[in-house]
Amino acid sequence: MKLLLAGLGLFAMIGAAAAQADLARIVTERREGLRAVGQHMEALQAIARSGGDPRPAVERIEAVQRFFVNFGQRFPAGTQQGAPGIETRALPAIWTDRAGFDRAEAALAPRLAALREAAAGGNAQAFGQALQAAGAACGDCHRPYRAR
Ligand code: HEC
Repeated sequence: MKLLLAGLGLFAMIGAAAAQADLARIVTERREGLRAVGQHMEALQAIARSGGDPRPAVERIEAVQRFFVNFGQRFPAGTQQGAPGIETRALPAIWTDRAGFDRAEAALAPRLAALREAAAGGNAQAFGQALQAAGAACGDCHRPYRAR
């Protein structure tokens, strides 16, 4: 009986450790993805600054769009700043004000769609304006929900 209980305890510990590892992996993947998004946006800004044909930007924009599909699922409970074993700048406000976070996420998608349209249309000025609008949506989420 003692052995059985010890065995169960061990199972519970292994289970908790596995769940912890899952959360850490989710955070690693979300941060790697966001870093890639940041690099795409920098490349788009370089294209906008050059004033050249924005059509080659379409692929990068689509990569950013793909990353933000189901973005909210990358923020399960236990992945906020201060959670054990987690290195993140995701503020607890994401979980205490989930509706606001979801709105900030929803605001980005149409701007990315408009950005893709502008790039595909080949008009450098429209592209530059759409890029600014998309970038503003990034900041609108970072200010309340991401630690500096
Ligand atoms: C709905 C909210 C939201 C939107 C929209 C958003 N982000 Fe973020 N971003 C976050 C949060 C939260 C973090 C912190 C993630 C973490 O540390 O786990 C973050 C982190 C980042 C990071 C740092 C990644 C790292 O850890 O190195 C970059 C770069 C970034 N975002 C770029 C962008 C860009 C560019 C956009 C717009 C195209 C954008 N984000 C849109 C919420 C958002």
